[in-house]
Amino acid sequence: MVLIAVVGGTGLAGRAVVHHTVSAGHQVRSLSRHLPAMEQQIGGAEYVQADLRAGTGVTTAFAGVEVLIDTLNASSGASLRALPVTSGAVLNAAAQAEVRRCVLLTIVNAGECAMGYYQAQAARARSYEKSKLTTTVVAATQFHNLVAGIFAGGAKIGVIPAFMGVSVQPISTADVAAVLVAEALRGGRESEYVLAGGPAVHSMQELALMWKQATGSKALISPMPLPGSFDAFLRAGKN
Ligand SMILES: NC(=O)c1ccc[n+]([C@@H]2O[C@H](COP(=O)([O-])OP(=O)(O)OC[C@H]3O[C@@H](n4cnc5c(N)ncnc54)[C@H](OP(=O)(O)O)[C@@H]3O)[C@@H](O)[C@H]2O)c1
Repeated sequence: MVLIAVVGGTGLAGRAVVHHTVSAGHQVRSLSRHLPAMEQQIGGAEYVQADLRAGTGVTTAFAGVEVLIDTLNASSGASLRALPVTSGAVLNAAAQAEVRRCVLLTIVNAGECAMGYYQAQAARARSYEKSKLTTTVVAATQFHNLVAGIFAGGAKIGVIPAFMGVSVQPISTADVAAVLVAEALRGGRESEYVLAGGPAVHSMQELALMWKQATGSKALISPMPLPGSFDAFLRAGKN
């Protein structure tokens, strides 16, 4: 049995990875700053507290780890600014523990979006690509949860926002997890770059309609522009 560490194993993507890994019969250790309550833990997984940014608990958390999947995330502020450095710390810890492959989850074409969040994601992907360790960078399209979250957020005030000229190829976190685990278990010493996209491209209008029908929401679908650099990225179909 291979011991797989999932850095950020309590997050949205990380939890799907932990679930997939347990189902596939591997040994899995989730690393995060906070431990989930017992009822939120996935049976068969080990949960270990470690802060990759602060460097606490890291040596113990990495002991015996054979392969690593990094689904760590930071959305804003100092944590986001530190994200590329934190990724460097993950790679250093992996080198110390002689991990044989490190797999990073990032966002497709992140380097082509001017937003700080995307630039941080691109920077951490570069650190994996440049690492002397054997790595796989998995660049995924937007998760279903992200799109559904945008619609649900708007629906609270009666409007389902359908960004004009924007299409998405959303993917389930379960499908992303399957790709990440397959990459973690890939043999060989070659570093890899893999794209993971959902089964179909849909306009925001189409997705809004599907979401409204599926949830029974009474909110109105409202076509609207999305201001700023994210709009340019999306309208160019880079996502
Ligand atoms: N959302 C999308 O549509 C999308 C699409 C493609 C790719 N992605 C990628 O998916 C990745 C994961 O996103 P997500 O939404 O699953 O993230 P998330 O739900 O915010 O989870 C982040 C995880 O990282 C842990 N974490 C944060 N800082 C840490 C630290 N210093 N040390 C140890 N653990 C730490 C968190 O636990 P604690 O807070 O307890 O530490 C949590 O387990 C992102 O980086 C992004 O590149 C997202």
